[in-house]
Amino acid sequence: MLIHTNRSDCTLRSWIKEDKPSLVHNADNRHVWRNLTDLFPHPYTEADADFWITIANQAAPSIHLAIDIDGTAVGGIGIIAGEGIARHTGQFGYWLGEAHWGKGIATTAARAMAAYAFSNSLFERLEAPVFAWNPSSMRVLEKVGFIREGVMKRSVFKDGQFTDSVMYALIKNT
Ligand SMILES: CC(C)(COP(=O)(O)OP(=O)(O)OC[C@H]1O[C@@H](n2cnc3c(N)ncnc32)[C@H](O)[C@@H]1OP(=O)(O)O)[C@@H](O)C(=O)NCCC(=O)NCCS
Repeated sequence: MLIHTNRSDCTLRSWIKEDKPSLVHNADNRHVWRNLTDLFPHPYTEADADFWITIANQAAPSIHLAIDIDGTAVGGIGIIAGEGIARHTGQFGYWLGEAHWGKGIATTAARAMAAYAFSNSLFERLEAPVFAWNPSSMRVLEKVGFIREGVMKRSVFKDGQFTDSVMYALIKNT
């Protein structure tokens, strides 16, 4: 799968086995792990990368893509499809290697991914719960058009402490 963005240096594409070194390099970082669910390992080993590159491409209707800058996978972005009554809701998530923060890459990637998700008939709602200590991710979602729906008090236990999460959502055709 290949999704073009509004930047010529940035695409979203399927993970490939050649991404293993850059995946480990960018993902093995506490500052990244601390803002994600526990599905994201820490430390991030070569075995974790092998596992991820295999399962990422077998997840339909969920979508897991690499964020590619100039031919290198510098992060990941994905949508996990819900089940049952939530089957038209997608859990939206993304991360970038810390060296690449602050350059607008996540916003570019999230905008392209959301547009792609709404171009087919599955997803009606994309939602992203953001830990209360992560204002830069809230800003990314706001720039893409997600609406802050509310605060889920003490819904997260991460890195040894409870925190609130803030629910952001984007609805198709709004
Ligand atoms: C969150 C993350 C994806 C952001 O990526 P990024 O490419 O740096 O984001 P962008 O550059 O597109 O946008 C960041 C925005 O946050 C703003 N920002 C940065 N630090 C901030 C802070 N402490 N408070 C408020 N806004 C902040 C930036 O100024 C920018 O907004 P602007 O364009 O209006 O100036 C990246 O930091 C990351 O991978 N973090 C770890 C994983 C993670 O948090 N994933 C999301 C889980 S919900």
